[in-house]
Amino acid sequence: MLPAEEKLMTPGIRPLIAGNWKMNGSWRGSRRLADAVRDAAPGLPCDLLVCPPFLHIQPVAATLLGSRVAVGGQDCHHKPHGAHTGDIGAVMLRDAGATHVILGHSERRADHGESNELVARKCEAALAAGLIPLICVGETLAEREAGRATAVVEAQLDGSLPLGFVTSGGIVAYEPVWAIGTGRTPTEEDIAAMHHAMRQALVMAFGPTARTTRLLYGGSVKPSNAEAILALPEVDGALLGGASLVAEDFLAIARAMEAG
Ligand code: PGA
Repeated sequence: MLPAEEKLMTPGIRPLIAGNWKMNGSWRGSRRLADAVRDAAPGLPCDLLVCPPFLHIQPVAATLLGSRVAVGGQDCHHKPHGAHTGDIGAVMLRDAGATHVILGHSERRADHGESNELVARKCEAALAAGLIPLICVGETLAEREAGRATAVVEAQLDGSLPLGFVTSGGIVAYEPVWAIGTGRTPTEEDIAAMHHAMRQALVMAFGPTARTTRLLYGGSVKPSNAEAILALPEVDGALLGGASLVAEDFLAIARAMEAG
């Protein structure tokens, strides 16, 4: 594990712990989870974001109003409104109380065939609605084993991030597909190397402002490995799936930011 001073390599970045609740929970359960996070938030050394299913955004936003915990959607359509059955627009997310939106999660890329180009269009829609996009990138196991992980992630960054992404406070999450929900994580060296490569790619594309873009790691982060992962240079927080559904785990990981 790296000493705490190493974290000073990314000055000016307040860490973020984000929870992606995916397709889980009930209206009441989501509120209870949000209540627990809200109550613990004032003592935590990082910003917090929770991303409930669409139907729970409004009640969760209501319970978090005035707190330090932000609310986000898990996706949005690339058009502002119109005849798109079953879809949700970025303006609707804003209207329901969201300030952020996850885009390009690997489950959306896999289940809904979302391309980098579509993710970039969704990102533009989010920015136009005043939402902060949290873009996910990450390689499959086959891509990593073929030695293509960095190239894949760089291509995803190149194709998924529109102009204005960095200046609007856009966030990037590196989530290796093979680490999501599997209990497996890359080595600390591999995470650090990928975050370094992402930082370089962003600075090349967007200029020095990208030095303060938050780079999160996601994929099987849990209380037992959070401290080591969050202490790595260029890791400015984490995107949690399973662990974000249990208030104690989510909060333990947020506290690990301090220890890291
Ligand atoms: P996990 O999911 O923490 O359950 O691995 C992470 C994610 O999909 O964002």
